[in-house]
Amino acid sequence: MNEKVRERLIFALDVDSFAVAEKWVRQLHDKVGVFKIGKQLFTRCGPEVVKMARAVGGDIFLDLKYHDIPNTVAKAALEAARLGVRMCNVHALGGRAMMETTVAEIDAHYPRGSAERPLLLAVTILTSSDEETLREVGIDHPVDEMVVRLAKLAQSAGMDGVVASPREAALIRAACGPDFVIVTPGVRPACAALDDQNRVMTPAEAIVAGADYLVIGRPISAAADPAAAADKILVEMAQGLRAS
Ligand code: C5P
Repeated sequence: MNEKVRERLIFALDVDSFAVAEKWVRQLHDKVGVFKIGKQLFTRCGPEVVKMARAVGGDIFLDLKYHDIPNTVAKAALEAARLGVRMCNVHALGGRAMMETTVAEIDAHYPRGSAERPLLLAVTILTSSDEETLREVGIDHPVDEMVVRLAKLAQSAGMDGVVASPREAALIRAACGPDFVIVTPGVRPACAALDDQNRVMTPAEAIVAGADYLVIGRPISAAADPAAAADKILVEMAQGLRAS
């Protein structure tokens, strides 16, 4: 499979033990470019699990969604970079100063263009939030409008891209241009179960909509043959790349 496709596939390591994480990284590292380590696995296993996944052969998306005062987030992102992760993320709702301070901290240690510099991503509005969720916290704007507004804010603060629903990818691509990175979970291959994801797209559709990287977990981890499931997803992604 084309390296260009493999590097765009991110596998969600949503497991609760080092040994199981290691099993998945060993099994999938030649199919998957990036392994996403989130709050559960990181809280359980700490930086050692990041080091293991890197050593076995994967790039890492450290999905800890920092949201705090600017200095605290900037220093946390610096430690993520020092772990050698390929991507890490913050909540855009933390605001411009939080994102600008984080970008400046990374700039100071990992100049733009250096191989070790991580991609700094922003989460806009969590896909678990709807208009009612936003209203309750005092935000009286439609979700789509907030997503685009926060993506543009992240871009103007110097962030490299966003994590977003595939349904929002086209809007963000139109608003932020071709170089802004869009990472999308909520992707389901044509033949897979939906699990608890509602608003899904297939891998090809997500790429045509503007996604650069796809986060996929259970369609691979719950498949009878995970390697074969990953191969099918890579084929669907390649179709999307040809069509876009
Ligand atoms: O198993 P599945 O493919 O649904 O996993 C998707 C991954 O992406 C999970 O780690 C989930 O937490 C994450 N995610 C998501 N939807 C979002 C943001 C993150 O499914 N809006």
